[in-house]
Amino acid sequence: SVTSVQEALSGRIAAGSRVTVRGWVRTRRDSKAGLSFVNVSDGSGFHPIQVVAPAALDNYETEVKRLTAGCAVVATGTLAPSQGQGQAFEIQAESVEVVGWVEDPETYPIQPKPHSLEFLREVAHLRPRTNLFGAVTRIRHCLAQAVHRFFHEQGFYWISTPIITTSDAEGAGQMFRVSTLDLANLPRGEGGGIDFSRDFFGKETFLTVSGQLNAEAYALALSKVYTFGPTFRAENSNTTRHLAEFWMIEPEVAFNDLAANAKLAEDFLKYLFRAVLEERQDDLAFIAERVEKNAITRLEEFIAAPFEQIDYTDAIGLLQKSGHRFEFPVEWGLDLQTEHERWLTEQHVGRPVVVTNYPEQIKAFYMRLNDDGKTVAAMDVLAPGIGEIIGGSQREERLDMLDARMAQFGLDPEHYGWYRDFRRYGTVPHAGFGLGFERLVVYVCGLNNIRDAIAYPRTPGHATF
Ligand code: 4AD
Ligand code: MG
Repeated sequence: SVTSVQEALSGRIAAGSRVTVRGWVRTRRDSKAGLSFVNVSDGSGFHPIQVVAPAALDNYETEVKRLTAGCAVVATGTLAPSQGQGQAFEIQAESVEVVGWVEDPETYPIQPKPHSLEFLREVAHLRPRTNLFGAVTRIRHCLAQAVHRFFHEQGFYWISTPIITTSDAEGAGQMFRVSTLDLANLPRGEGGGIDFSRDFFGKETFLTVSGQLNAEAYALALSKVYTFGPTFRAENSNTTRHLAEFWMIEPEVAFNDLAANAKLAEDFLKYLFRAVLEERQDDLAFIAERVEKNAITRLEEFIAAPFEQIDYTDAIGLLQKSGHRFEFPVEWGLDLQTEHERWLTEQHVGRPVVVTNYPEQIKAFYMRLNDDGKTVAAMDVLAPGIGEIIGGSQREERLDMLDARMAQFGLDPEHYGWYRDFRRYGTVPHAGFGLGFERLVVYVCGLNNIRDAIAYPRTPGHATF
């Protein structure tokens, strides 16, 4: 019967069973004894399976001996314990059917040898065929599943917030504009009463930078909610940690304060790391061997230790006393730059760390002003190798304070009228955060560039595929 390669290697199918696997050739080696060893991968798990093809096969000389990396095959035979190193089972083939050849094998971009990541970005449509991108894809899937499982188990509801919006949720002016449709060519009579001489929505619209404001509305009725969806930022930062299109997870909880918010972030990250350690051992072992040698131990260490917390004011003191020469100034009132974040998490703590209570003037308008009048109840989670992976806060639930902050940031209260309503009707303290999903994948997979954490990266000047 047809089985995935992962299932064939799992030990759950008895040796001696007749199985069929379908996939793509990784390598072929011909032995002097008149046999060929064809490694076949179907991506179901990290390891390919070795198909042993005897010279007696009808198509041995005509086809099997012409197989190259990337050819698609269907192999049927007997599952047998393997003598080969690092594999428990192999298939002793009675047939190897070639479904799709690779034309011009010499120029096939994915050869069985290591490729540079820069090169692979140029063939983003073929890179899932490599060991690394197979591993990253399966780990990313495992993390996404664990995100939904964690929140479901904790009684959260998943809210799908809009992608097209009129609000700049972060007030940072980094939105992509949704352009006016070119409706000149629409056939007459279609349009159901909409005046197509104006913009489709009758007002300026943008791609969302965050679903938070919409999620707050649901938290103030369903208590615990989260979003998980695509997010867009038109920031012209050509860095290894910024994408123009990324996925964000944003939990929002009524009656939570900043301490409860930080606790939620800690429990959440630990749950996700545990899931990867349990479910993706094959891929993590490869990452540890080839990409980041501490890939496994650092997840285990984070799970074992309490989450380190540092107040922003203390962080500034630590940075100033560090003796390290930073490129950007370190001064109370200035935002932390990536180099500062990385020093705190890499040099000072050695694990992910939460920094809390930032100066009010450098954080978003919706964050709750602390009693000192100078700081807001904000938190950023910083991770080694990256810097910020989570940004969150307790929200300003007092209408007069929110109005004052919106005025300070030059935001039109009328435009945010719906957002002010939550403070007018049954307001309560509430808090939440946003986890950048690709930054999480970068951290777990030990990647150096966020462009390798998403299938088709969108960055300034790049939107191919
Ligand atoms: O700190 P940010 O801007 O916070 C928010 O959007 C809040 N609304 C979250 C909330 O409280 N609900 O973004 C949150 C996270 C960052 O910590 C980072 O991990 C990720 O989103 N992020 C990006 N990831 C990739 N590319 C970009 N351009 C990113 N901008 C933010
Ligand atoms: Mg942030």
